[in-house]
Amino acid sequence: MMPRRLTFLLLLSLAALPAQASSQLALDKGCYNCHGEPPRRNAPGMAQLATDYARYRGQADAPRRLADKLREGGLFAHIAAHERLSPEECEALMRWIIEGAK
Ligand code: HEC
Repeated sequence: MMPRRLTFLLLLSLAALPAQASSQLALDKGCYNCHGEPPRRNAPGMAQLATDYARYRGQADAPRRLADKLREGGLFAHIAAHERLSPEECEALMRWIIEGAK
């Protein structure tokens, strides 16, 4: 039988996988070009976004809704890095930000 501690570590690393994949995605997609520290181009920093989006925790449809909104852009805010994301990528990133963007 596997020692309990090992099982725990294994579960922990499995749970961390999706978050890690999303933080890599954020890097790959250039999110930190504007949402880094310090943020640029009037963008909120990633930590600020995570604080704002924490209120969506537990809302199952929030990642999809926020992703649709982000990809659509605003009337005066067309940001290529937002609009180029696929629905799946964007939803994964929104879920990641809601969970703290770690
Ligand atoms: C060229 C600069 C730039 C890049 C690159 C960029 N953003 Fe943004 N982002 C902004 C600006 C500026 C705002 C604030 C204005 C707005 O809300 O449209 C913003 C707002 C946001 C918001 C808040 C939207 C809202 O209204 O609640 C989220 C979430 C976000 N960005 C995610 C991302 C993600 C994920 C990436 C990477 C795929 C990314 N951004 C890349 C400039 C950028």
